[in-house]
Amino acid sequence: MSDPIQQPPAKTGVRTQRSKRTRTLILVSLICGALVVALTTGLVLHFRNKTNEEVQHRQDVIVDCLPELRRQPEKMENSETQCQFKGCLWRRQADEGAPWCYYPSNHGYRTTGNIQASTTGYRVGLQQMDATAVEDNSFSHLDVEVTRQTTNRLRIKISPKDKYRFEVSPDALNIEKSSDLFVNETSAAYKITFTESPFGIAVTRKDSGVVVLNTSLPGLVLSDQFLQMSVRISNENLFGFGEHRHQSIRHDMRWKRWSMFTRDSGPNSDWNLYGHQPVYMNVEDDGKANMLLLKNSNAMEVVLQPHPEPAITYKTTGGVLDFYLFLGDSPKHVVSLYQQAVGLPMFPPYWSLGYHLCRWGYEDINDMRSVILRNRAAEIPYDGQWGDFDTFIKAFVFTYDKTKWKNFPALVDDLRANGQHFITILDPGIGVDENVTREVQSIYPEYDVFGSGETLGVFVRNADNGTLLGEVWPGVTAYPDFTNPETQDWWTRWIRFYIEHVGVKVDALWIDMNEPTSFARGSIEGCRRNKWNFPPYVPDVDGSRADGALFDKTICMDGQQYWGRHYDVHSLYAHSMAMQTYRALESVYPGKRPWVMTRSSYAGTGRFATKWQGDNRATWDDMHYSIISLMEFNMFGFPMNGADICGFWLNTTFELCVRWHQLGAFYPFSRNHNGRGDDNSYKFRHQDPASFGQTFVDLVKPALMTRYRFLPYLYTLLYDAHTEGASVFQPLFFEFPGDSQAMNIDQQFMLGPAFLVTPVLKQGARSVTGYFPDGLWYDYLTGETTKPGTRTLVTPLEKFNLHVRAGHVIPWQEPDVGELIITPEIQGLASRLKFDTLEIFGLDFLPSWLKVNDIQVPTANISLVHRNVVQCTGLGLPMTSSSTIAWSSY
Ligand code: NOJ
Repeated sequence: MSDPIQQPPAKTGVRTQRSKRTRTLILVSLICGALVVALTTGLVLHFRNKTNEEVQHRQDVIVDCLPELRRQPEKMENSETQCQFKGCLWRRQADEGAPWCYYPSNHGYRTTGNIQASTTGYRVGLQQMDATAVEDNSFSHLDVEVTRQTTNRLRIKISPKDKYRFEVSPDALNIEKSSDLFVNETSAAYKITFTESPFGIAVTRKDSGVVVLNTSLPGLVLSDQFLQMSVRISNENLFGFGEHRHQSIRHDMRWKRWSMFTRDSGPNSDWNLYGHQPVYMNVEDDGKANMLLLKNSNAMEVVLQPHPEPAITYKTTGGVLDFYLFLGDSPKHVVSLYQQAVGLPMFPPYWSLGYHLCRWGYEDINDMRSVILRNRAAEIPYDGQWGDFDTFIKAFVFTYDKTKWKNFPALVDDLRANGQHFITILDPGIGVDENVTREVQSIYPEYDVFGSGETLGVFVRNADNGTLLGEVWPGVTAYPDFTNPETQDWWTRWIRFYIEHVGVKVDALWIDMNEPTSFARGSIEGCRRNKWNFPPYVPDVDGSRADGALFDKTICMDGQQYWGRHYDVHSLYAHSMAMQTYRALESVYPGKRPWVMTRSSYAGTGRFATKWQGDNRATWDDMHYSIISLMEFNMFGFPMNGADICGFWLNTTFELCVRWHQLGAFYPFSRNHNGRGDDNSYKFRHQDPASFGQTFVDLVKPALMTRYRFLPYLYTLLYDAHTEGASVFQPLFFEFPGDSQAMNIDQQFMLGPAFLVTPVLKQGARSVTGYFPDGLWYDYLTGETTKPGTRTLVTPLEKFNLHVRAGHVIPWQEPDVGELIITPEIQGLASRLKFDTLEIFGLDFLPSWLKVNDIQVPTANISLVHRNVVQCTGLGLPMTSSSTIAWSSY
């Protein structure tokens, strides 16, 4: 972020502007403060610098006591006095970015009586400790529930005593499933201890003795619209939180601030983006890993602090503090525990794993048709064609424009006849304009999406109980309240109408602008000045610079929905839309696995939808950052995930687009999508492979064909994720948790356990340096081996780096080069898929015999395809049962 969390005033001359008397007073209080801190906590070291100012070398966690100042540096002049007024301590910090005003050690809550133990946990009553640390409207008494939910999962819930508070509905996220086991102290993998004053909880692993979490820190605040808690973590190996454009997979802990609140904002800044994923992973020194989810959907931010005592401070604007801690034996294990709890990722249909083409800004049906035809002619493997809202009448959903898109259903039918699929965009904003509605009704008399929704009362209501009206592509829009169960039938009805009546037989739905977006700030009438629209504390969310408005680019926070006030449920909008869209497809296509792809998300949305990264740019840096985002979303439970190949904004270039295809061929979701243009007058060039000509096709096709060859492997990985929870597109340290060098690598990735991809991410580069963890690695294209360590790989434009890890069995299939699509279409388990060819890397002689399930394979089917790769064809093994393969050692 560009803003330091609290602009240090020292060099701004603030001190020198103060009167002598003030200075003396402050100095006395500084000295007293220093003594108090040193005597009571022994936490800090001080020294005096040349200008005789006291500088603190922090040795422990400190928590910012004046966070509201970070956006108002002009107010810093009075901040020292303000700080003291709040009962906090003021010290100049040696750490750049560290707060100078922080809570004293006696701030927070203490236990009111005995800690009550039950068979599954503890209940603790708390009372506010220090009246001098003034927090507006802080609750005086709190309830703490600590529950051992499973042997490796613990819940810590802190809420005000006897007060109604908003909580994330179990309809959205139900972690306590009936099959869950609540465990006693002996069977839990962790030990819980308490500090009574100030209150805190520490969780220690029984086996390693590592304290994975410790909340015994000052600065616990629960008030109506500001809740804060800090946690010490085991070390600085911190990953996760989203959605952001992180520039490294491992967090930079130096006082970075990350806000979370769903927002229509592409990955081009350090602000909060589309999704709200309040969860992190911490990899402990011995390679074990834990994750912490804050089940809270309010606008929030986290502030990280570095060595010597790494910690995270959470600040949220509502709800309760409801934490779930997961203790895994490894990063992979904890990801699977996390995904099992929030909901296992959906299993997409097999065809969705193919390559896809999309753009916003196809001129008309001829433009889209020529893209389809030229890529077919170029024999690009290509399974999905996507349509943006260009096809609609004035952006009204569930329509198509019969002039510019004449006979559009026939084009979709033609795609299907070719074994391809069509996917349409679907925005939640429902156009209300009566003139356009009439225009649409002149073609489809039954069309009444807005009217029928009004009658049923399924739209988000404003503070006066009227329909809240914002603005998106169709002009003025109403927003379906997908948290309302009544909305389901209405939504299903119109999706069915589009498919069955309008006749556009879409195979899947792409839900966009579901943060939800409104181009009118809040509503077409603006927003009222009340505590929801203008809360006392606004996290560092994008848009907040101007006036602290959470409703910037979205709808008013005092909007009303079934699950609660929009202020509380804003970040659940896409989650609820994904749920209802998934169920609508289930009902329209019974027996088929639905596929919904969403832009915005919350924890657990992966149950209903896959995800793409949104509006990136055609830059080399964006290509790199896509890897980080994909790794993170895999952790969060979205294993089928991809970024717009070649970039969405800006004109892509030949070289960038080649390299991006060589990377994107290994995204779990592989789609080339570009934007319309900077504005209506300037359009970005087409970027489908065939649009660049034959040389380009020749350069990218090998990578795409390799993807197709390994689809059975990718499908198996996604199935594992769906059944057990797993990460598919993973950082290297997931496979090598003990390798500290692997921990920082985010320019390479593992696809499952067996593939290591080292893409070229720099313009003009014809070689790339990669890190190879322990083991033996085979270049997939040549069979050459690479030993562990840092290696430079020669990578001319026609080459991509895919390495196969020794000791792994990889199912693959020869793509049907005739049709260049995934055939046959498979729903359900892959009963019709066969394993046909086996390649054994590292075998540098032709074995005298090779047996599959004890039956000898004819020698004609066995050959050496590279110096050390033996290939065995014609196996015809079913994918649904296991097989044994053996060969002679001579
Ligand atoms: C924003 C989406 O992120 C983008 O992919 C889409 O093309 C445009 N909306 C237009 O629908």
